[in-house]
Amino acid sequence: MQLTPLHQTQENMKTSQLVFLLLPTLCFFVSWGATSPFDVDDSEDFISCLQSKTNNLTSISQLIFTPLNSSFESIWEARVNNLRFIKPSTPRPSVIVTPIDETQIQTALLCTKKHGYQIRIRSGGHDFEGVSSSDVVPFVMLDLVNMKSIDVDVGNKTAWVQAGALLGELYYSISQKTNTLYFPAGVCPTVGVGGYIGGGGHGNLVRKYGTAADNVLDVQFMDVSGNILDRKSMGEDLFWVLRDGGSSSFGIVLAWKLRLVPVPEIVSSP
Ligand SMILES: Cc1cc2nc3c(=O)[nH]c(=O)nc-3n(C[C@H](O)[C@H](O)[C@H](O)COP(=O)(O)OP(=O)(O)OC[C@H]3O[C@@H](n4cnc5c(N)ncnc54)[C@H](O)[C@@H]3O)c2cc1C
Ligand SMILES: *[C@@H]1O[C@H](CO)[C@@H](O)[C@H](O)[C@H]1NC(C)=O
Ligand SMILES: *[C@@H]1O[C@H](CO)[C@@H](O)[C@H](O)[C@H]1NC(C)=O
Ligand SMILES: *[C@@H]1O[C@H](CO)[C@@H](O)[C@H](O)[C@H]1NC(C)=O
Repeated sequence: MQLTPLHQTQENMKTSQLVFLLLPTLCFFVSWGATSPFDVDDSEDFISCLQSKTNNLTSISQLIFTPLNSSFESIWEARVNNLRFIKPSTPRPSVIVTPIDETQIQTALLCTKKHGYQIRIRSGGHDFEGVSSSDVVPFVMLDLVNMKSIDVDVGNKTAWVQAGALLGELYYSISQKTNTLYFPAGVCPTVGVGGYIGGGGHGNLVRKYGTAADNVLDVQFMDVSGNILDRKSMGEDLFWVLRDGGSSSFGIVLAWKLRLVPVPEIVSSP
């Protein structure tokens, strides 16, 4: 049997076959455009839900943004790192929530489910497909920009870092405390800890210390029902898959506990 190389098959394909194949694709885009992701939908119910579940109305009101708020666009754009996705036609969130603590994340999650929105979680916003900032159905964007505390424990060579922190902020915090510890992660300082470790995390010390995921000791994680779990309570299977399997398929990473590794005080390169 003679195998036909793929490019030849494509060249031999008749125009009629191509049209036949393209039609479903075209239909998809037409119907996609006809539904309502581009319309400003009524998010009042969602906002009322958030407000009804809080004990500090002032605080939560400062953390909710709809397209009617003047700062909506700048907050949304701030961490869309690929300019390709900042187009007038890119579907925006119905609401952006920028929580400052776990309780607000939990409330946002439960109200999102109650009012039929999808949820998008954004840490550093470096997603290659822009899926942390956009969707084809009405969605609420949980922007973890206010969840970036970093607690470095030099004695134990560990650090707790909230998901919204960026790699550069993590490196800076470690360097404020010691010159001989490091977290083996990537070179781009604006990549978010949340998405980076959820995807495994390659860095320049990978040959010596493995991936970033290999150096995660524990996690604080919210499942889809709003329960907060750690490594012990979630079990090793979930803990394993969160660190490379794309954490957003399973829930929301709140913070990682990292193992810091020894490095020389002075490093030089030719
Ligand atoms: C300029 C650039 C340099 C890069 N360099 C490297 C590199 O050196 N090594 C490497 O391994 N990778 C690198 N990457 C890839 C990068 O690690 C991934 O794109 C990563 O997913 C980005 O994470 P983020 O938090 O910035 O992005 P986001 O867009 O915020 O998130 C990425 C994905 O993770 C999900 N997510 C984010 N936060 C959470 C959370 N708290 N809980 C659950 N899910 C969450 C989002 O929903 C989305 O699906 C680079 C990317 C860019 C654009
Ligand atoms: C509510 O939040 C606001 C803004 O964050 C803060 O100034 C105020 O002290 C809070 N009130 C209470 C009762 O906690
Ligand atoms: C944005 O507008 C909504 C009403 O649509 C309001 O509840 C909220 O407080 C506003 N957000 C800010 C940060 O002012
Ligand atoms: C390690 O952490 C524990 C608990 O947080 C603390 O009590 C202990 O002092 C730390 N050890 C060192 C060497 O700093």
